[in-house]
Amino acid sequence: MKARITVLAGDGIGPEVTAAGVRVLESVAGAFGHEFEFVDALIGGAAIDASGSPLPPRTVDACRSCDAVLLGAVGGPKWSDPSARVRPEQGLLELRRTLGLFANLRPVRTLESVLDVSPLKAEVISGVDIMVVRELTGGIYFGRKSRTALEAEDVCSYSAHEIERVTRTAGRLAMQRKRRIVSVDKANVLETSRLWRSVVERVISEEFPDVSLEHMLVDAAAMHLLLRPTSFDVLLTENMFGDILTDEASMLAGSLGLLPSASLGDGRVGLYEPIHGSAPDIAGRGIANPCGTILSSAMLLRHSLGLEREAATVEAAVESSLSSGLRTADIARKGQASIGTEAVADAIIERILTVH
Ligand code: NAD
Ligand code: IPM
Ligand code: MN
Repeated sequence: MKARITVLAGDGIGPEVTAAGVRVLESVAGAFGHEFEFVDALIGGAAIDASGSPLPPRTVDACRSCDAVLLGAVGGPKWSDPSARVRPEQGLLELRRTLGLFANLRPVRTLESVLDVSPLKAEVISGVDIMVVRELTGGIYFGRKSRTALEAEDVCSYSAHEIERVTRTAGRLAMQRKRRIVSVDKANVLETSRLWRSVVERVISEEFPDVSLEHMLVDAAAMHLLLRPTSFDVLLTENMFGDILTDEASMLAGSLGLLPSASLGDGRVGLYEPIHGSAPDIAGRGIANPCGTILSSAMLLRHSLGLEREAATVEAAVESSLSSGLRTADIARKGQASIGTEAVADAIIERILTVH
């Protein structure tokens, strides 16, 4: 098949990990006889430096007119002055909003071969397989904001419609999995969470009667994720709770650098991004873990291009490369040598080409 993929490398380690993701997609195209065209566009700090805007109109056009978008990360100390008028992160938020990407799928799985790198006990995390469904275009991220010298506010609001549609995404995913949803909120304090709870309850009972639903308060969920992570199947939650809980959950997998995500909506274009940021502390050294981005490109193959076999091949290649001990510094065993971003991509590509 032919597909056009817009690549938004962004800042920090963004260009390093997206280069690895693109090379993997190119190898998939070669191995399976597809034609992928890659179009680069600017976002984040790189776009601010070039044009003054973190999301130039040309970038939006490139994202609207392609089949899928692969994104690295945005942000960094250069653009982090609290009094700055524009910030790199605004570009990413505006892109998610403008493309209508209300559901962010963040799969969290422990790979048996890297069980030893998590700070958590192997017997607790072995077999973890959670699909976090994070609402992505509502809540406190997108409410009214104001700021004076002495006061600031960020309004958190949700409409029933926003909750319904992301609940349907979670319901459909649960039906393909173990049919269990834990919906995470703060209904003991927040009005938005009480609405969340009642809408989730209604949509699941009316439209997904075979799915079991449990509600959990977010503070307790943060604890249960570490205490009994294998008991979760689909975890559905609002924008900010999902952001925080998935960085926490990345420790179940072993590193923030391992987790992929897919941002989907009702529209045609999906955005695929690792859950980590621009990692300024390691940027430019060629040591970032590209697996989160490479696994995001597998999600791109699956969700935007409908190429399930190709997606599964990439995922198997990542697992095989990790289990043969090829690791970046963030997941290296104590005292053992690590390899760089490109070498990890090489190992994964070699496997894609040989298993196919
Ligand atoms: P971060 O995720 O960039 O880094 C947190 C820690 O994890 C760092 O020690 C980093 O080195 C490590 N890490 C992250 N990704 C890694 C990888 N692939 N391989 C190895 N180690 C990795 O979070 P931060 O430092 O709090 O934020 C830095 C900047 O990134 C901020 O400007 C933030 O807004 C931005 N950010 C962007 C995105 C995004 O674009 N989607 C996501 C999160 C944070
Ligand atoms: C993420 C990031 C973003 C978010 C930031 C950079 C706006 O942390 O994708 O997890 O909070 O959604
Ligand atoms: Mn985050």
